[in-house]
Amino acid sequence: MISLGSLANYIISSALYYCQGSPLLMLLFQVTCVAIEFLYSILSKFNFWTSPKAGIDQYVLDYKKMNNTLAEERFAIVTGANSGIGLETSKALALAGFHVIMACRNKKLAAEAISKLELETGLKTFEFIQLDLASFKSIDVFIDQYKKSYSKLHLLVNNAGLAFCPYSKTKDGIEMQFGTNHLGHFKLTNGLLDLIKASGRARIVVVSSLANYVGTFDKSLILEESRYNRIISYGISKLCNIMFANELARRLNGTGIAVNSLHPGSVNTNATKYLPDSLHGVIDVIKSLLLIGPIAGSLTSVKVALDPKLEGVTGKFFMNQEEATPLGEALDEQKCKDLWEFSEELIKKHST
Ligand SMILES: NC(=O)c1ccc[n+]([C@@H]2O[C@H](COP(=O)([O-])OP(=O)(O)OC[C@H]3O[C@@H](n4cnc5c(N)ncnc54)[C@H](OP(=O)(O)O)[C@@H]3O)[C@@H](O)[C@H]2O)c1
Ligand SMILES: *[C@@H]1O[C@H](CO)[C@@H](O)[C@H](O)[C@H]1NC(C)=O
Ligand SMILES: *[C@@H]1O[C@H](CO)[C@@H](O)[C@H](O)[C@H]1NC(C)=O
Ligand SMILES: *[C@@H]1O[C@H](CO)[C@@H](O)[C@H](O)[C@H]1NC(C)=O
Repeated sequence: MISLGSLANYIISSALYYCQGSPLLMLLFQVTCVAIEFLYSILSKFNFWTSPKAGIDQYVLDYKKMNNTLAEERFAIVTGANSGIGLETSKALALAGFHVIMACRNKKLAAEAISKLELETGLKTFEFIQLDLASFKSIDVFIDQYKKSYSKLHLLVNNAGLAFCPYSKTKDGIEMQFGTNHLGHFKLTNGLLDLIKASGRARIVVVSSLANYVGTFDKSLILEESRYNRIISYGISKLCNIMFANELARRLNGTGIAVNSLHPGSVNTNATKYLPDSLHGVIDVIKSLLLIGPIAGSLTSVKVALDPKLEGVTGKFFMNQEEATPLGEALDEQKCKDLWEFSEELIKKHST
């Protein structure tokens, strides 16, 4: 039976096919996407098929049925694990048997999240290691600390992100949304690759967004403050998430490491906290009426992280728990390679 998710994705990818290339049609496409997204959210709230929690339980169960995965202790890192989608993802991974390292920037928020998760699951397999993705130094310290304690990493979930903030810069002087959402994760992932490679079958999950459709990989939009736009810059960072995942998937092809990216859905979380206060009235209404909850919002991440049926699937983009089509730029190998080189150069240039 065709799922609601694959139907929504099919409509979006068909519309994208006809609209890409024309700025006017792309505007129409973006509006259509939002409409389909909200319709999907509302319909999925009725739980016609299964409740979000039952969906998570099923992924956990399917994963645990694979005997080989239970033999040795398995390690997962989730960035931005203290809140929203990352919190629910961490919970599911622990239930699936992982030791979960919660890579968060705020020690107090992480401690609160861990108490909550321990209470809800009865498990003691959550651990905090501090990570601020907006600081190269913090990323280096995190990697060192992780490597001092562990020699394997079976699952990395690049989930942390901030959206729509006013113009600001990371500790190293790079535009905040690109610097945190893409570049921080780029550096983190590359720094952990040797451990991931040493872990046999492993997965890297990159949480992107529907907003990839408003992005474009344009260096001047990233580098020039005068051209900053909160929404476009978020879109750029989320497009770069997919481009990075796709390029990494090519580089790791044949190694047994799968790299996939995803849009989690439109989820009622704290992701809108950097929007102006004047908008919060409207946003709160939209959030409660139209958006799915954080458990439903973690379904696609959990599926891409755990589902045995996705064994061997790499370099793909998912939405609504099904494969989907990202913006054409994300499928352009040369552009993905350009982003990789640009990222390496930026890190070199801004490292002291
Ligand atoms: N909610 C949606 O509708 C939606 C849609 C598409 C994509 N996404 C993506 O889903 C992911 C999770 O977002 P969410 O909706 O769950 O929002 P959220 O509740 O705001 O969670 C974001 C997490 O990222 C962390 N973070 C932000 N900057 C960081 C930094 N410099 N270093 C380390 N951690 C940092 C936050 O930490 P603090 O708590 O300390 O701020 C928080 O833990 C993001 O990548 C977002 O782009 C969300
Ligand atoms: C797991 O082990 C059981 C019993 O040893 C076996 O019957 C089953 O087929 C195995 N499942 C997988 C996925 O290998
Ligand atoms: C949003 O942040 C508040 C305050 O830090 C926290 O209590 C709440 O749980 C967060 N919401 C989600 C969905 O994570
Ligand atoms: C990996 O290699 C196979 C075989 O050459 C190819 O069919 C597949 O498209 C490659 N995948 C990626 C993500 O590059």
